[in-house]
Amino acid sequence: MAYATLRYQESVETFRRNVSTGVRSETGFVYRFQFLYCTSSICNLLYIKYMHINQLSIFTDTSQIEISSDIDHPKAKPYIEIKYNIPIDLPNGSYISLHRNSPLKVYSLGFQPAKTIPEIPAWFLQKYTSQSSVILEPFAGSGTSIIEALKVGRKVFWSDNNPLSQLICRVKTTRLPLIDILAASQKIVAEAHIEKTVTNSVNFSNKDFWFQQEVQAGLEIIKRKIFLSKLSYQTVLLLAFASTVRKCSDMNDGLILAAKRSNIKEVPQRNRQDVFKYFQFYVDKIIEALSEWYQFDWDIDDVREVPSQDARNLDGNWLCDAVVTSPPYINAIDYIWASKFELHWLDFVRNNQQRLDLSSQEIGTERIPSSEYKQLGKTGNHTLDNLIIEIFNGDKYKASKGQNHLRARVVYKYFMDMQQHFYSCYHKLKTGGYYCFAVGDVSKICGVEIPVADSLNDIATKLGFQEVFRFHLLLKNRKLNIPRNVNWAGTIKHDTIIVMQKS
Ligand SMILES: C[S@@+](CC[C@H](N)C(=O)[O-])C[C@H]1O[C@@H](n2cnc3c(N)ncnc32)[C@H](O)[C@@H]1O
Repeated sequence: MAYATLRYQESVETFRRNVSTGVRSETGFVYRFQFLYCTSSICNLLYIKYMHINQLSIFTDTSQIEISSDIDHPKAKPYIEIKYNIPIDLPNGSYISLHRNSPLKVYSLGFQPAKTIPEIPAWFLQKYTSQSSVILEPFAGSGTSIIEALKVGRKVFWSDNNPLSQLICRVKTTRLPLIDILAASQKIVAEAHIEKTVTNSVNFSNKDFWFQQEVQAGLEIIKRKIFLSKLSYQTVLLLAFASTVRKCSDMNDGLILAAKRSNIKEVPQRNRQDVFKYFQFYVDKIIEALSEWYQFDWDIDDVREVPSQDARNLDGNWLCDAVVTSPPYINAIDYIWASKFELHWLDFVRNNQQRLDLSSQEIGTERIPSSEYKQLGKTGNHTLDNLIIEIFNGDKYKASKGQNHLRARVVYKYFMDMQQHFYSCYHKLKTGGYYCFAVGDVSKICGVEIPVADSLNDIATKLGFQEVFRFHLLLKNRKLNIPRNVNWAGTIKHDTIIVMQKS
């Protein structure tokens, strides 16, 4: 396959003249957790200790850029093929395709169905912030931007309304005695094997459908022992427990939502020993990943949580110099639903209603009462409001009863919530400060294409932000849609990354 290879230092015009057929990276955007069994945690710890620190750095000096045309759409803009790190002198408006280095293991820890790739915050932090900058990550998820900020010595505030994400971020931003935690986990498993008493502490809808009786018994035993262990070890142990819950449920590997479907594959019979085995496996994985992450020189005192944990209401007495984030995607993942099992098993919610209440707080929520969605909402953005009317009236696609009205309201509420978020951020950001977001460029809802990135940009502009830079990242195999058997929702092709400045 022929393609033009050019060092990035050469001019973009030269690139364009040299364009020919290109190569696509096979890199997926959403990480897949590798279920490789780690033979010995101690060996891993020792191995990591002797790794050279440069092997772990994403700031290598081997960045290369190539350009290729979009094979499917020959008239489309050419993609700049980038190897490893996004260069800070990338031309404004570029379309890029990224060939990635293998990332640090810490990024893959914890369930988060729409992880950002670290190259985006890394690029932004290098280009728009300095050593003394204070950063905000309002939709922290699994903490990708927090890790990037800490790696380059920035102070960082973060929030996320999902308690599972909060746990993941806490684990990644605390330095803990890993050898002691490993020993504590081994003690828990050894005791679990001979435990006779089984409690019944968890109650949620369809629990017996998703969890075999023996699995429930194993999870109850491990959970009780975690809560009896040393308090400071519990975050790591609970994160391993959360992964065990997902793995030992009867949900097929790779599924995101606990939705009953006709095509659920046969699941193996499991016993409580399987639960104990997986728990130890995940503790090992976490310890291995954290050991690697601890080799970096970052300070736990540089991290703060926003008290409200709600990106629409950023409270506390602090200001920041820059925001870097990836907000929820419209009509894509319901993060609370997706983490239903973990939220219940870890006691983050005590009953179905508490979980549903959390879901209502999510930006992009579909939990809207019918009395509300019967009304047509107006955002004040002319283009957006016309698209919302098209969805409401079913001009492009008539969905089942009430669905057009609901979807129209979901879109309206998403943008109003994001407006509230931008407003809150505006007051936390110093004048001249930057706000960078990465979001799917276009979402198709009831056949209507919503230009998400541009609409967010328009809303923020009205509040006093001004766009200073953007680029588009080609996504591969990206389908972030709730499985509700609809044919009106398409695949997101690009993430658009926009940098705005507070004037
Ligand atoms: C696209 S994900 C962020 C992924 C993250 N960048 C990562 O790499 O893991 C969006 C996140 O926004 C969170 N979120 C949704 N509504 C929120 C709200 N009202 N306040 C704070 N976080 C919210 C979700 O829980 C989810 O973790």
